[in-house]
Amino acid sequence: MPSPRRPLISGNWKMHHNHFEAIQTVQKLSYRLTNDDYEAVDVSVHPPFTDIRSIQTLLQSENIPIALGAQHCHFEEKGAFTGEVAPSMLAKLDVTYVIAGHSERREVFGEDDEMVNKKVRAILKAEMTPILCVGETLDERDAGGTDDKVSGQVRAGLAGVKKEQVAGLVIAYEPIWAIGTGRTATPDDAQTTCAVVRATVADAFGADAAAAVRIQYGGSVKPGNAGDLMAQPDIDGALVGGASLDADEFARIVQWRMGD
Ligand code: PGA
Repeated sequence: MPSPRRPLISGNWKMHHNHFEAIQTVQKLSYRLTNDDYEAVDVSVHPPFTDIRSIQTLLQSENIPIALGAQHCHFEEKGAFTGEVAPSMLAKLDVTYVIAGHSERREVFGEDDEMVNKKVRAILKAEMTPILCVGETLDERDAGGTDDKVSGQVRAGLAGVKKEQVAGLVIAYEPIWAIGTGRTATPDDAQTTCAVVRATVADAFGADAAAAVRIQYGGSVKPGNAGDLMAQPDIDGALVGGASLDADEFARIVQWRMGD
């Protein structure tokens, strides 16, 4: 039976590309992607905050069907939070997807499960779609703790979320040892853990939510490995870091169906 879930390929630019470079990258991407691609795949780009307004204007003025994403937001609506951006500010810029709990935010900026959960709920409240990131360190993996870590993060990240909302959101499984390292989980390993993510959603929110939730794999996804990863039954997309900075490379990942 074909999967009911539309693939979602997301480009997480991290702290790269000023707004001029961002515009060029999206323009190049739009020259490479075709209507067939947009019919088969949802595509999002997640630039730094300073680029978002420029990219919103470009996507709208040129009718480019790429969704705008953000990498982070605060969970409060307003207040004395120097340096932070509220979910509603992103929604006002037509942001569709917001990454929550990326391992770099967890590790470098001290985001814990409780903050990530508040953020997921705030993103949903602002009528955007969270991409909740989960994943284990190499030590946790070596100690056989992958399943517990990942299922614990899924439960904590989605606590208090309604099952209808869970059905519409995105979870990205990103083994921390594979991010930016050139090491990728094998397609079998990635599938095994993505199946654990889906089983956790089924246990906590029911079979319907589990069948509908989209699960991305992330961690050194490249044009050469995207096809084998995307062929796995529980992998519905990819969260791409380094390879998304280059429009040509990212387009080849979006076009994994054609082979590389
Ligand atoms: P990478 O990053 O593709 O550069 O490994 C993935 C991510 O951090 O989302």
